[in-house]
Amino acid sequence: MDLGIAGRVALVAGASQGIGRAIAMELAREGVDVILLARSREKLDAVSEGVRGLGRRSAVVAVDVADQSMLRQEVSNAINNLGAPTILSLAVAAVWVPQKLQFVSDEEVDRLFRTDVSSAVDLCRLLLPGMTEARFGRIVAVGSVAARSGVSGGSLYASSKAALEGLMRGIALDDSRRGVTANTVAVSFADTERLAMRTAGDEGARERLVRATATRRLPTPEDIASVVAFLCSTRASAITGAVVDATAGAHLNNLW
Ligand SMILES: NC(=O)c1ccc[n+]([C@@H]2O[C@H](COP(=O)([O-])OP(=O)(O)OC[C@H]3O[C@@H](n4cnc5c(N)ncnc54)[C@H](OP(=O)(O)O)[C@@H]3O)[C@@H](O)[C@H]2O)c1
Repeated sequence: MDLGIAGRVALVAGASQGIGRAIAMELAREGVDVILLARSREKLDAVSEGVRGLGRRSAVVAVDVADQSMLRQEVSNAINNLGAPTILSLAVAAVWVPQKLQFVSDEEVDRLFRTDVSSAVDLCRLLLPGMTEARFGRIVAVGSVAARSGVSGGSLYASSKAALEGLMRGIALDDSRRGVTANTVAVSFADTERLAMRTAGDEGARERLVRATATRRLPTPEDIASVVAFLCSTRASAITGAVVDATAGAHLNNLW
């Protein structure tokens, strides 16, 4: 199926590893040029090489999204280089240690919301004018089933994901009539570096997660990236303000 986005420019936030890296590669396979954003320049350079290997152009933005002025500056530089993105994929998430809300420090609250929510707001505000002008835009936030189910020790994380869903719905209402769709892909678990870190030292954790899915298989980053790429396509123009489930059935009543 031709996704109809060849020749467009995308910005993928969180592109140095995991789901974001898989999204960047999937979009490049679809003929999209990609601005790759995360903190680790070394990892981004490796992804950039992969994108170029597929015959597409790429630019690296090595920046901490919590630094709003650097984020704006560096993204503007990349846009001057590669052109204005009409596709934005949001896959950044701060690492968090599970703990009850009353034990979370003020600094952790600030860091998590700045990294996971404010940066998404900043990037949408930066790119929306170009998208509405082009009369085409695709914004996809990688969310979590936690936005609806909650997650033990992750009140902040769950509320940040709920905020992202609300952000996508608001943009959908305001800008879909100008060709800009905004959606969330809800993930339960995906087999990424993040998951490996969360389950390290917990023997049996992986097995429990596999059993929590209806498919009895942890989705790969590529599984999630395929859903994101479809939502970025011209084929998905009727989907906006949606939360698309990519949980492998982990949201179902799966106790028996
Ligand atoms: N994996 C799962 O099981 C799962 C489940 C539900 C939802 N999700 C969601 O899916 C998305 C991707 O998850 P993942 O597993 O691929 O995560 P990951 O492996 O932790 O990757 C996160 C990405 O965000 C970047 N990042 C983190 N903090 C940053 C900062 N301050 N500034 C700039 N970049 C930053 C990281 O790169 P640097 O470290 O180089 O900055 C990395 O590229 C996240 O939104 C996550 O919440 C994942």
